[in-house]
Amino acid sequence: MEAQIQQLLAEVQAFEVHTADDLEAYRRRFTNKKAIINELFEAFRDLPGDQKKAVGKPLNELKQLANTRLEEFVAALANESTVERPHDLTLPGDAHRPGGRHPLSIINRRIVSIFERIGFTVAEGPDIEDDWHNFSALNFEDNHPARDMQDTFFLSRNPDWLLRTHTSSVQVRAMENGKPPFRLLMPGRVYRNEAISARAHCFFHQVEGLVIDKGVSFADLRQVLQYFASEMFGDTVKIKMRPSYFPFTEISAEVDVTCRICGGKGCNICKYSGWVEIMGCGMVDPNVLRNCGIDPEEYSGYAFGMGVERIAQIMYMVPDLRLYSQNDLRFLRQFERI
Ligand code: PHE
Repeated sequence: MEAQIQQLLAEVQAFEVHTADDLEAYRRRFTNKKAIINELFEAFRDLPGDQKKAVGKPLNELKQLANTRLEEFVAALANESTVERPHDLTLPGDAHRPGGRHPLSIINRRIVSIFERIGFTVAEGPDIEDDWHNFSALNFEDNHPARDMQDTFFLSRNPDWLLRTHTSSVQVRAMENGKPPFRLLMPGRVYRNEAISARAHCFFHQVEGLVIDKGVSFADLRQVLQYFASEMFGDTVKIKMRPSYFPFTEISAEVDVTCRICGGKGCNICKYSGWVEIMGCGMVDPNVLRNCGIDPEEYSGYAFGMGVERIAQIMYMVPDLRLYSQNDLRFLRQFERI
């Protein structure tokens, strides 16, 4: 037995562990309950007394060594994964996935660039507005329903302040601070106190246009909107203007384009009408010009305003408005290469 113990000591010393499988083999051979060392201890019990003396010490040493080595192996394996390896320049690099633009940014930029090509420049205004710029200057009567708490987020510190409900407020600021002619495009975020659903959100994005000059007519407006629609949706698109009402324009219209999904034949995107609404527009009301210090006898102009979410929905068939702000990569990654 003594000789066997010596041999096992040498074996434990020489054992090398590189993988989890090696470790398992080591345990099975030496340290498990049924492994050789325990077997020796069982045999030890039956030895005659004089032999016990000679065998006891080396047997204990063997057991201790086997356990110490086991601890070393376990620690070494755990370290293995964090150990710094020399750089292997032949390995493929980490895949680098470039980010993409948000669909609303893509559409916003396209709208801006389409109008920039015909001489519009971008103007911006604050998201927090006062009643004058968002409503009063735009000819909203005191009791107009759009002022209602239902639609507008008023700031509790001062009810004269609110989150703008449309980018038309920027029209007022531009006209107050400059002199005609104006040829402006005003993109921005707007806010409305609506329950969030697939079709409505408490914030969204608009692009507003404003042209003021001598002799500007409704025909000019129509021409510019036809140009915009063809650039945005393709040459074959037709536009249709329906009479409508906005406090700040007279006359007012809503603009429909032929549905690009079905080409006007009727589908569930256009609710089988062949047309989809894309914006509101009209000739700037003389009262608004006057409120902003412009003489309506000398100048006239038109304005239009469209929802960026709406245009993106038509372009990309986005079924639910909430997708734009949920940061779901499965949605966003579809726009990476656009
Ligand atoms: N401000 C209007 C809206 O938010 C859109 C619009 C802008 C209509 C300019 C006419 C002229 O619905």
